[in-house]
Amino acid sequence: MTIEKFICGIPKAELHVHIEGTFEPELMFEIAQRNNIKIKYKSIDDLRKAYDFSNLQEFLDIYYDGASVLIHERDFYDMTWAYIKKLHSQNVLHAEIFFDPQTHTDRGIQFSTVITGIHKALENAEKEFGMSTKLIMCFLRHLDEEQAFQTLEQALEYKDWIVAIGLDSSEIGHPPSKFQRVFEKAQARGFLTVAHAGEEGPPEYVWETLNLLNVTRIDHGNRALEDDTLVQLLVQKQIPLTVCPLSNLKLRVVDKLENHPLKKMMNNGLLVTINSDDPAYFRGQLNDNYLKLSKALRLTIDDIYQLAKNSFTASFLSDSEKLSYIKKVDDYEK
Ligand code: ADE
Ligand code: ZN
Repeated sequence: MTIEKFICGIPKAELHVHIEGTFEPELMFEIAQRNNIKIKYKSIDDLRKAYDFSNLQEFLDIYYDGASVLIHERDFYDMTWAYIKKLHSQNVLHAEIFFDPQTHTDRGIQFSTVITGIHKALENAEKEFGMSTKLIMCFLRHLDEEQAFQTLEQALEYKDWIVAIGLDSSEIGHPPSKFQRVFEKAQARGFLTVAHAGEEGPPEYVWETLNLLNVTRIDHGNRALEDDTLVQLLVQKQIPLTVCPLSNLKLRVVDKLENHPLKKMMNNGLLVTINSDDPAYFRGQLNDNYLKLSKALRLTIDDIYQLAKNSFTASFLSDSEKLSYIKKVDDYEK
């Protein structure tokens, strides 16, 4: 079997993907047209040419712009369903998906419109493909604490549809401590917590997510490697890091994939997973992330089995669900 086929077939979970980052230009143009919204790029090709980023902020500016054509429940449904089909074609059996409600509520779109469209597509994923999913609501960290509190209030009505609260957007200058109180409230209301940290921000931000936001998982976490004590703690507690190799390359967190720290993280005993982050913008679905990184770092077949198992271990599934998915990975023949 080729490595391509092996990676495509192995059962796996996606734990770090922003639904707005799955929005492919073709669908963006189609939805813009039906909503009578003018996109500032003349063609799909022109838009794709703009996907050349020097850092996180340059990407975020284009990403928020792209999301602005989403108006109706059907738009959120269509974007989510298009992505679910992509996951299914890659043998992704379970997905934990971020959404950024403030990107939409700030433009006057109702919270209920956003979450209902996404939720209906996730329900359909279970019905059509037997795929399990969970939804994680992120606060935009460039906005203030008060806006996060308001967003949490809106989320409470949909408590049953949201498993965890996360934190994303521009990292530098917006430390996790800014959101300590709202995360405390979210936890008191029964949400799990995760946060992006150590993507561009320093190891201190990773410490803060652990000590102040009480996260059970860290999104990215690359810069944790700069602090040995922090690494020891992450290993000892087996706090997962959801790592996104092609995102790291496209946003210049690493200069080339050959220098990506994933293998080093595994060798250190960290519980790491491979994820796609914003596949439409980084031109890499989950399996592309596995494949390109495997080639660049010369990952072994055993490494790939381990990473696929980690993706279930690090998920928010119950212990019995994790075991049954991990058995599927073990039963997968190379
Ligand atoms: N939102 C979407 N992708 C992101 C990333 N890589 N970092 C922070 N916020 C994001
Ligand atoms: Zn992310």
